[in-house]
Order: sequence, then structure tokens, then C-alpha cells
Amino acid sequence: MWLQLDEEGPLHQQAYRALRGAILDGRLRPGARLPATRSLAGELGVSRNTLLQAYEQLADEGYVTARTGAGTFVAESLPDDRLGDAAEPGVASASDATPLPLSKAARRILSAAPRAGISWAIPRKHLAYDFRYGEPAYGDLPLETWCRILGRHARRASVARLSYGDPAGAPELRHALADYLRRARGVVCTPEQILVTHGSQQAIDLIGRVLVDPGDRVALEEPHYTGFSLALDAFGAELVPVRVDENGLDTTELEAHADLRGACVTPSHQFPTGAVLSLERRLALLGWAERETAFVLEDDYDGEYRYEGRPVPSLQGLDRAGRVLYLGTASKTLFPSLRIGWLVVPEPLVRAFTLAKAYADTGSSGLEQRVLAEFIEEGHLERYVRRARVRNGQRREALEAAVARHLAGAAELEGTRAGLHGLLWVPDLALQREAELRRACEARDVGIYPVRPFFTRPPQRSGYVLGYAALSEEAIEEGVRRIGDALEAITR
Ligand SMILES: Cc1ncc(COP(=O)(O)O)c(C=O)c1O
Repeated sequence: MWLQLDEEGPLHQQAYRALRGAILDGRLRPGARLPATRSLAGELGVSRNTLLQAYEQLADEGYVTARTGAGTFVAESLPDDRLGDAAEPGVASASDATPLPLSKAARRILSAAPRAGISWAIPRKHLAYDFRYGEPAYGDLPLETWCRILGRHARRASVARLSYGDPAGAPELRHALADYLRRARGVVCTPEQILVTHGSQQAIDLIGRVLVDPGDRVALEEPHYTGFSLALDAFGAELVPVRVDENGLDTTELEAHADLRGACVTPSHQFPTGAVLSLERRLALLGWAERETAFVLEDDYDGEYRYEGRPVPSLQGLDRAGRVLYLGTASKTLFPSLRIGWLVVPEPLVRAFTLAKAYADTGSSGLEQRVLAEFIEEGHLERYVRRARVRNGQRREALEAAVARHLAGAAELEGTRAGLHGLLWVPDLALQREAELRRACEARDVGIYPVRPFFTRPPQRSGYVLGYAALSEEAIEEGVRRIGDALEAITR
């Protein structure tokens, strides 16, 4: 094929890069007509819209010109020729000039980056059976209601609404969240203790700024959510892995470490193993934090989704000593692009966190905050979460049944009592072959995600995080069947 997509980032960008490359290396000469979008879309296996976007970007940048009724043609004079050496910003820095020196934090960020990424936040190629973790069920979302409220608020422009707001968050959202969190998650706080952030990730970053000095030791679950380690590593924290078993973080091992500044945990549904922290260990963790004057970051990222047993209330609700920083997000109960999260901090820390947030970004977008406040106050969020819990429970059952049917004896699924993902262990597949199975699945249009990046020390066996919320039961069944097929093909 004369045009190849590089599989990095959104499809329209891939198509844009491929076409631009063909223009620059002369496969498409000045004045040549670009293929019709419909036929090229078929050839590349992308939608026509994707190609239209790519053609539009090429036209905006001067690589092609569109002539109504005649088609799209490569420009006679290319922007790269006109720009000379400075055409590629990255290439320009390859000149003799000394590059700007990076901070220690930036160097740490760069050196940690290849080891692990927040993998689900990186766009990937489209796969029909993608068990990509972190995706909610977009089709189930009450988007009409959301858009109705959004439209109403967008039309209500007034100076108070158009100007800067409280950097800690819109008061109406902090009130709505305080009530919601008490009802849904047993969180005990005043609205003033809530900081509205750009997703959980900004809250972790703020914790790094406010509570961690370079060299401070911070405990992490092993395996752990890389959103913690990558952010805290940038602040120079020394990360201390602590074992996790079927009851969550091993608090005895935690207590054996001296001089810890804090611990980051996912007690409602350990990420990625899915273990639920037992009550006994919750109390041990809080006792440790009180004695050691250490913080506990409780990331309650998907605590709303629990399918077996009684809902486990938050650790924060049990904390009497002001040690827990409770973290929640709209990414799982609504959708990730909203970029709204909430951090509940102990009262004495409110001012430091509010100032850190103000210096970081002067506060989050007022419009979305007011829409979310009304969405919560009118009961839409809780109604939706109840429905989504039932739907996701059905998807989870489909996943368990499909694993039992197609992978019996070859793989074990764990951690599905709560949340939106399970962890599929393939004990007989050596860790070195983890990527091979991922590739074999990808060749069958299935996306599975190795668990290895979430471990500080390599695990003993291969495993994959399987997100199921964004798939239908039929797709889950077919996807797992194909995983079985791929596994058989590579181990035959
Ligand atoms: C453990 C954990 N915490 C938090 C999040 C959500 O992060 P954010 O609120 O920044 O979208 C995720 C995302 O998938 C997660 O797995």
C-alpha cells in the first residue's frame, strides 16, 4: 500500500501525517490530484469524515488546495519550502544553538515516561473489541439531559458568570458534592473542604506540591495506579512499594517501613487487582496514619460501582484524625473529557490547597461546574449511576461467563466484585511473551492491556487489565473468544 498509517494518535492526524509525508517525499507531486476521499477511506479502512478532516488540515496549512467540483490538488509551492529550515519546530532545535536547560522535575518526568504511561489516556487505533481500561459506557450516558442543562447555563451569561470564580471551585458544585458524597460514599465534610480539580490527576499533582518534598518517602500499592507514581516522582518523592493481596494493601508491611510521609491507596477497588480493602486493614491504615502523622490519599475512582456485598463506605468517613485526602472523579460516573474531579482535604489544609490550585490554573471552568452542580442537585447523577450499575453488572457477568467458556484452565479473572475492569491472569504465559499475546489479539481486532506497567517489580506471570464498561455483552463474548483464539495460536 502506498500510504501507511503510523497508529499513533487520532486517525485523522495519522491520515494527515501519511499524506503530508507522501507530499514531502514526492509520491504526491505538486499539482497532483489527491485520491477521492471515499475511495482512499476504503483503502485505509477509516471513515470518510476522518479523511475530510485530514484534507482540511492539509489545506489550512497550504499543502493542498481544494477546487470546487474538480477535487483537491497538491500545492505548487509547499509551505516547507517557504519556511526553509524552520519548517519543523523539533528540527529547528537541532541547530547549533544550545537547547534550554530542563529543570530536575522535567528530567525526572522524561526519564520515567517510557517506563509507564497513563496508557488509557493515549489515543490508540480503533479496535472493534477494545477492552481498553478507563472507558465508561458512552451509549448509556444521559447526554440529552446533560446538553439541556448545558444549553441553559451557556445562555445565562452575566458578569458574575463570565468573570473569574473561586479557585477552589464553584460554591454550588461544592455544596452539591458535599451532599452527594455523604449520601453515596459516606464522606463526612463541609463544602469548604472540597476542591474542584481538573480530574483526579490534577488533585494528585496538588498533593505533590502541598505535602511532598524532594526525598520524602511515599508508600504505593504494588501494583499501583501509575497516575500516582508518575506525578509524585516528578516532585522527587521516593516511592516505596507495599504488597497487595486479596484484602488490599498489606498494612503490616506498611507499618514495617519507617519515615513514610504518606500512602496512596485505592481501597474501594484496588487498581489494578480489584481487591477491596478489608475493614480491619482500613482501621489499621488509619491508626498508622494517625501515629505517624502521615497522609492517606484515598482514590475512590470507581467506588460507585459495586456488585457484590454491601457498598463499602469511604475511608475518609472513618477518619477522626484528619489524615485522609479523599479523591473522586467524574471520569467514571460521567465521562473523562469533562475533566472534573474533587479532592476533600482535612480542614487545616484547605488554605494551602486552595492557593496551590489558584497558582496552578486560577480555578476550573465555571460553566461545566455549574452544569454538574445542577445535574447532581436534580438527581440525574444518582439515577444514572443506579442504571449504569445494573448495566455494568450485566457486562461484568458477560465477561465472567465468556472467560469461563473460552479461557477455562488457561486464564483466571480476578477483581470483578466492583469497578469497571477485571484483571485477567494468564499463569502459563511467561512475562516475556505478554506483548506477544497483546499483538496477537490486536491482529484479531481485540485490545487488551498488559498489567506489567503497574508493577514496580515485574510480576511472576502475564496479566491484562480488561475494561468492559464500553462494550456490549455480545462484543465481550466475541472479544474473549478471540483472546482464546489468539492465546491458542501463540502457544500451540
Ligand atoms: C485508579 C484511577 N484513579 C483515577 C482515574 C481517573 O483519572 P482522572 O480523574 O484524571 O480522569 C483513573 C482512570 O482511569 C484510575 O484508574
